[in-house]
Amino acid sequence: MMPSRSWVTALVIATMLWATMLCVPLARAQGLVDAMRGPTPVANESKAPLLYQTENKDIRRTRNYTMQPPTIPHKIDGYQLDKDFNRCMFCHARTRTEETQAIPISITHYMDRDNNVLADVSPRRYFCTQCHVPQADTKPLVNNTFVDVDTILKRSGGAKGAK
Ligand code: HEC
Ligand code: HEC
Repeated sequence: MMPSRSWVTALVIATMLWATMLCVPLARAQGLVDAMRGPTPVANESKAPLLYQTENKDIRRTRNYTMQPPTIPHKIDGYQLDKDFNRCMFCHARTRTEETQAIPISITHYMDRDNNVLADVSPRRYFCTQCHVPQADTKPLVNNTFVDVDTILKRSGGAKGAK
């Protein structure tokens, strides 16, 4: 006799629950659970961390790797960035940088996905804060074990050591 459909459903659900129970401690051990929530149960709302002052030192920061979008070294509070106006381009556009002394957006910002170089900023680079973010001098919300490639090269005895 075939087992009834509801019985099969119950079995599937039970198996899934069991699998989840096994996975959660494993995910936690591997650090896959969102650490920003801390020990707050999923059904409860966690306490939002304090908002810190944005750093506004006007000093360009080191990039952690060559293709990192540089972080914004100045405040952007109140800058309009929508389909009508791009405040960032008011300073960072090629034709504006003599006056503003901002760094002009690089060539990649003019390229579409087929690598055609357009006359103006590419639509996929229009919303600057998708990739560029201001910073605050505060404790990181989650641990980070990132190591700069230069450190790795030094460790393994320079470029020759890197296989
Ligand atoms: C009033 C002019 C002005 C506006 C508006 C402006 N910037 Fe800037 N930006 C600068 C200047 C000048 C620098 C050079 C460092 C400094 O003086 O802060 C800079 C630096 C940067 C850098 C660092 C580049 C690097 O190589 O490290 C980024 C990224 C950046 N701005 C992004 C933005 C974004 C995104 C916006 C819009 C939300 C914006 N900026 C709006 C003037 C401006
Ligand atoms: C899709 C992600 C993305 C968007 C959107 C984007 N950028 Fe960038 N930006 C990057 C990356 C990656 C780099 C570093 C490598 C490069 O130049 O492409 C960069 C570099 C820069 C630099 C440094 C250029 C240099 O020559 O050192 C400035 C300034 C900058 N972006 C400003 C902007 C502004 C202003 C906007 C909005 C109009 C913007 N970016 C939108 C990813 C982005």
